Amino acid sequence: MKFLQYSVLPFLLVVVILSLSGATLAHSHGDFLLCLSLHLANSSTISKVIYMRNNPSYSSVLNASIQNTRFSTPATPKPLAIITPLKTSHIQSTIYCSKKHGLQLRIRSGGHDFEGLSYVSEVPFVILDLLNFRAVKVDTKNKVAWVQSGATLGELYYGIAAKTKTLAFPAGICPTVGIGGHFSGGGYGILIRKYGLAADHIIDAQLIDANGRILNRKSMGEDLFCAIRGGGGNTFGIVLAWKIKLVPVPAVVTVFTVNKNLEQNVTKILHRWQYIAHKLPDDFIQAGKKTVQVAFIALFLGGVDELIPLVQERFPELGLAKENCSEMSWAESVLYFGRAPRKSLDILLDKNVIPRTIFKAKSDYVKEPIPESGIEGFLSMFLEKEADFAAMLMVPFGGKMEEIPENELPYPHRAGNLFQASYIVGWRKEENAESGKYISWIRRFYSYMATYVSKSPREAYFNYRDLDIGSNNISGYTSYQQASIWGFKYFKINFKRLVQVKTTVDPMNFFRNEQSIPPLSSP
Ligand code: FDA
Repeated sequence: MKFLQYSVLPFLLVVVILSLSGATLAHSHGDFLLCLSLHLANSSTISKVIYMRNNPSYSSVLNASIQNTRFSTPATPKPLAIITPLKTSHIQSTIYCSKKHGLQLRIRSGGHDFEGLSYVSEVPFVILDLLNFRAVKVDTKNKVAWVQSGATLGELYYGIAAKTKTLAFPAGICPTVGIGGHFSGGGYGILIRKYGLAADHIIDAQLIDANGRILNRKSMGEDLFCAIRGGGGNTFGIVLAWKIKLVPVPAVVTVFTVNKNLEQNVTKILHRWQYIAHKLPDDFIQAGKKTVQVAFIALFLGGVDELIPLVQERFPELGLAKENCSEMSWAESVLYFGRAPRKSLDILLDKNVIPRTIFKAKSDYVKEPIPESGIEGFLSMFLEKEADFAAMLMVPFGGKMEEIPENELPYPHRAGNLFQASYIVGWRKEENAESGKYISWIRRFYSYMATYVSKSPREAYFNYRDLDIGSNNISGYTSYQQASIWGFKYFKINFKRLVQVKTTVDPMNFFRNEQSIPPLSSP
């Protein structure tokens, strides 16, 4: 990524910031920038750290990691400034100055938030973008790694694959997702049945709290350390880096995709899938992705000769044949599932490998098999014209997810779930004016699914953020009762514990957004 280098002297730049502020921004904004400029010890770094609206690079830095382009229209509220810290003291200064001058801070790592909360706010705000915090250090001897929040999953996978073919990390499928938000919300991928969530494998972290203190696991204490492993980003502090435990995988794994359409008895096959997918051996990690065409996609931690008889015995209806399967390394399987062309692992480092799209998404958890009539009903909704760019992802649970108690970490959706379902609808940029009809479609779809999914609460996955399920007040205090509406859906009983931690570590509610955990009483 290229940043504009200023040709003016650093000293002059400070003057430019102030004069522009005075002309275009409210007084407090100018004060914020003055505060920050004064706090950045070395003024020559200012041009690499602060991007104001008038900076020619402002838009490219802002847009660089906006994944859902629903939130990059001229009407989308823009930050007063984007801060791209080079060192921790820059982050501490940003916290200090935004607190002092009453500006909201939005932390951004990979920018994949489904509702754009890492870079959009209705109140005056600045973005702290961790794009310069992306180091990955893999220690194969001890089977651990340190990864900074601004790195992508692809960069982490690449770092592991560069050293070994027999270690992996059980995080998300899409290589462009940022570590910071993904780990903060739990994070799952194709290894979920074997190893659980990314958050289940975090063993230490480096966090800066609302007072600018740098904490590790020991100094933050176990309650806060638990909360940051799934209790949501932009809530407890800024996590700079995570220490993770790597997991073993065979040097050769097998992947397959079997496509079925409506004419190929897909309703029955999908119905049957619900009874077996969560019970397959843990080495077998299967996902069914569904449009009107259904793709049964899976990873098996072993060779094809072991896989075929297993599927033929447990799921003969699928008709799996050797030609559907490919053997490869675990890192190559990431490219396969991420739909990235399988050329070279270097693709894992490309932040633009997944095209940016416009979308709205929702999630559910399914505990009882959906009857064939129910499957027919939702399949038929994919034939509606608003569903041209719609999909449903069904990720089987069971395995390791069955073993971890629901109150071990904030993520509560563990034993008793057959699968997680998520729905997504997209549309073309030129249809943005009609986005309402697509959003109505997905809301209708979600209503239809209500009969078949978890109830009281209707559970949802925090990392598939959905503001339809409730949100905090944009400004002012949000009560425990109000936040419980969305909080129990994401965290179930763990929500109470998260509120207690928040009340202790950030009673003034400095780190906040539309779905951040509120403190118990008004600051
Ligand atoms: P982003 O930077 O937008 O941050 C998300 C939230 O975390 C924001 O509230 C932000 O303020 C906060 N935050 C970010 N960095 C922080 C930090 N360092 N400290 C504190 N707070 C921080 N999920 C999944 O589990 N499995 C998957 O396979 C996928 N796949 C996937 C594909 C695509 C294309 C998208 C768009 C999303 C996914 N996701 C996913 C969802 C993804 O896990 C979720 O959106 C994450 O929050 C994204 O993290 P980013 O850092 O990219 O987002």
